[in-house]
Amino acid sequence: MIQQKAYVVLVMVAAIFSTQLLMAQQTNIHVVPLPEHMVLNAGRLVIDGSFNVKIAGYSDPLLKRAADRLLDRLQHRTGIPLHPQGDTDSNPATLQIQCSGAGEALPSLTADESYQLEVTDRAARLTAASPIGILRGMETFLQLIELDGQSFFIPAASIEDRPRLRWRGLLIDASRHWEPLDVIRRNLDAMAAAKMNVLHWHLSDDQGFRVESLKFPKLHEMGSDGHYYTQAEVKGLVAYARDRGIRVIPEFDMPGHSTSWLVAYPELASAPGPYQIERSWGVFEPCLNPALESTYSFLDALIGEMAALFPDEYFHIGGDEVNEKQWSASPTIRAFRTRHQLKDNRELQAYFNQRLLKIVTKHGKKMMGWDEILHPDLPSNVLVQVWRKQPTIGDTVRRGFSAILSYSYYLDHMRPASFHYEMDPLGKDADSLSAEERGRILGGEACMWAEFANPDNIESRIWPRAGAIAERLWSVSVPTDAADLYRRLDRFNQELRFLGLRHADHQIEMLQRLAGYQDIAPLRKLTELLLPTGLGVRQRTRKYTSFSPMNRMVDLVFPESETARQLDLQVQNLLADPAGTAAARVRASLADWKDNNAAVQTMIGRSYLLEEIRPMADTIAELCERGLQAMDFIQNGQKPSEAWRKETKDLLSRADKPQAEMLPAITGSIRRLFEAIAAENAGKNAENGK
Ligand code: ACM
Repeated sequence: MIQQKAYVVLVMVAAIFSTQLLMAQQTNIHVVPLPEHMVLNAGRLVIDGSFNVKIAGYSDPLLKRAADRLLDRLQHRTGIPLHPQGDTDSNPATLQIQCSGAGEALPSLTADESYQLEVTDRAARLTAASPIGILRGMETFLQLIELDGQSFFIPAASIEDRPRLRWRGLLIDASRHWEPLDVIRRNLDAMAAAKMNVLHWHLSDDQGFRVESLKFPKLHEMGSDGHYYTQAEVKGLVAYARDRGIRVIPEFDMPGHSTSWLVAYPELASAPGPYQIERSWGVFEPCLNPALESTYSFLDALIGEMAALFPDEYFHIGGDEVNEKQWSASPTIRAFRTRHQLKDNRELQAYFNQRLLKIVTKHGKKMMGWDEILHPDLPSNVLVQVWRKQPTIGDTVRRGFSAILSYSYYLDHMRPASFHYEMDPLGKDADSLSAEERGRILGGEACMWAEFANPDNIESRIWPRAGAIAERLWSVSVPTDAADLYRRLDRFNQELRFLGLRHADHQIEMLQRLAGYQDIAPLRKLTELLLPTGLGVRQRTRKYTSFSPMNRMVDLVFPESETARQLDLQVQNLLADPAGTAAARVRASLADWKDNNAAVQTMIGRSYLLEEIRPMADTIAELCERGLQAMDFIQNGQKPSEAWRKETKDLLSRADKPQAEMLPAITGSIRRLFEAIAAENAGKNAENGK
């Protein structure tokens, strides 16, 4: 018995010890997305001027270009000039790339993205069955770079990695606001770093038709304000993406969201024109006419032309948010419905989609669309992108369709990374599915709708949060606690800057634009304490158009505040141990931010653009002051007056309402302090038998 007990204790101690060991190791692992299997070993591979890359085994131009890029990035990251490939042939390889074969010519759903990376103190070896696996492994390699008092180095490690889901996409809306090619290319670089593999390019909507059409030039000439991608540019971008193992899927949204097409071709509309490019945001009436044969011959020619530009097997036809008004109002469309025994406009859209499917198939593509296209009349070989709460992804695959998830992955809603991270295409909803049904869940896509995103701020709206979605889709086993995600995401964010992403620089430029030639330091400090509201709140607050200036604080503050997150951790530490070191830190931060307000108010007086943030700056200062007072009560064990409580409650509810379309990022922490006093007093009252 005693022996048994001793054994149990021993096992428990061993378990605790090995868990801690694992945890300790984990905190040294910064890779996003987290590899399936990664062990850090003793030793390091030093990176110095002798570093070289060699492609052993299968080689091709794509791999060579990838190795060149790796060398460039390593050189940029370390500042150490490195020898180009081929220059050091007589030396042993520092990074040996061992690819088994050519793999598929194009990145595709069936590509083998797995890889192994072995790093010792003498060399690194990256092995994969196909070039695309090598690309994924190179990104891991680059994220492993460390710097310490001695050198740059890669820690010795053994990594085996592969994706959990095959479809890991990012939608970029280039219609609501024009997003030039350099923006798209930077996002492709970041996607590759996050091992995302599908760019869903939303190329047409009410506000713009963004691709040159040689067959129907009026589309881009009249429907884009001159902001469109030429066909040569599209091909170049597709090649750029292919080099990074990323598929490019175009979306031409129809039959709704098509005002920009109808500017040039009003005869295709369901109501007489003329039409103008839509300048505001929402769901609008103009809609293609599904009752006209000429609509289908037009679409046949256009889709044929566009399909040829995009080698991927999928073609996205949109299909979302059809406003039925024009269809219901048109006698000829109503007569068409009767003639075809279509009982309502949903059936009419299903008819339209069936015709569309024939066209898309004829041009060698598989059709995909938003979940509104779900209909019993539509064959199940259509891929459905689930973006609404209902139908769920489970409902969709149960009905025989393949599906990807975007519901809960809308980056324009300005939710924290932890919110997106919790959402899993194979989550609870998928528990009751058969293996076959689960197999039809291909993955997911983060969506960057661009009502409030232009080239100045789109990168900050996507990154680093899309990294959380990328990890959810890639990683086989991920930590459930967001704290570990944030630790790694913070570093990943820095990696993105090394890679050339402009989000942090853009924020500084935008702040300077607001401040004129004043020193932006106080404003920057305030920025870290603010959050922007998302699409819904902004739309309800005022009328926006594509001519609304994007030169406000709300346009530049990051969707998530690392500063506020750190404060909240400190506040939690403080409450757990009021006599510990956290208290002094929290006090110092709150006092600093409170004092910052004087300088901010001076700046506001010197720039009309800043006037609207005056109340918010005051609210932040008040929150800090209340937080300091709350700490006094907690630390002195005193009880606040009823008046103080009421004022604090009023302040907190004021802080919960957007001001200048922003919210304070620190309200949660101040509320935590306030509630701790309430709880403490309740506890004391209970002790006193009250
Ligand atoms: C959508 O957000 N309308 C797909």
